[in-house]
Amino acid sequence: MDYQFILTEVHDRAGLIRLNRPKQLNALNGTLIEELAAAAEAFDADPAVGAVVLTGDERAFAAGADIREMAEASAVEMLLNDRIGKWERFRKVRKPMIAAVSGFCLGGGNELAMACDMIVASETARFGQPEINLGVIPGAGGTQRLTRAVGKALAMEMILNARMLTAEEALRAGLINRVVPAEQYLGEALKLANELAARAPLAIRLAKEAVNNAFETSLTDGLADERRSFYFLFSTDDQKEGMKAFTEKRKAEWRGR
Ligand code: CAA
Repeated sequence: MDYQFILTEVHDRAGLIRLNRPKQLNALNGTLIEELAAAAEAFDADPAVGAVVLTGDERAFAAGADIREMAEASAVEMLLNDRIGKWERFRKVRKPMIAAVSGFCLGGGNELAMACDMIVASETARFGQPEINLGVIPGAGGTQRLTRAVGKALAMEMILNARMLTAEEALRAGLINRVVPAEQYLGEALKLANELAARAPLAIRLAKEAVNNAFETSLTDGLADERRSFYFLFSTDDQKEGMKAFTEKRKAEWRGR
């Protein structure tokens, strides 16, 4: 498939999506978001792929939504286009998604990284929600996901006062999973994606759903849903194989059934 603003590759069992507007620091325009959603959905449907990595380039993961594209828009145009509504397509991806971040990860870029399940960062990465400098607020989940990830105190400072975090600060704040030297961030993310892709696919899918559910529901409902999924997995071949392999002291062979 030919895309204008992204590139796709497969590395073993990891699907890789590269944002490809380097001159604009991978600013997210409407076409790019459409392409990104289509590529993520295609990998989600591809049995040869078990997990997806989303990356930019060394200078920027993404410096946010495309400011030039929306600068002159009216509220009615924004509402009718509902560009951010299209981001909902990412939430429906069932396979694990990992953001591999180097350089600027700002505004919509940070929101995109946070919409992934895990974030691997280069030591050069910088995370922020600078929308306040443009006279607006984050619009693609920044106020919600960042607050859940780092807590109120730091989220307030980042969103109200455009404070940027270094990769080390983001790691300490719980926003990201790991920081690695600049030359390793993509390799590390692909390695992690391939580890996930080698695991029991149905359990991975329900595990992702259950963790995400923790942000949506009460503890009682979340625990009940988790238990149902746990019991459900006992109807799969993979549960029988996983527990048999344990008792036989061998590696399990997952079939995704
Ligand atoms: N939209 C459109 N173009 C952008 C952009 C963006 N978000 N970010 C950078 N660019 C463009 C610049 O305009 C510039 O293009 P030209 O060469 O044609 O002028 C090019 O990318 C390189 O950028 P700079 O020259 O500014 O590079 P720098 O190294 O001096 O600064 C930066 C880097 C600090 C990231 C700076 O580019 C910047 O502040 N960018 C905007 C960050 C921002 O405000 N993001 C939030 C956007 S709003 C949003 O995301 C809403 C939402 O919640 C969905």
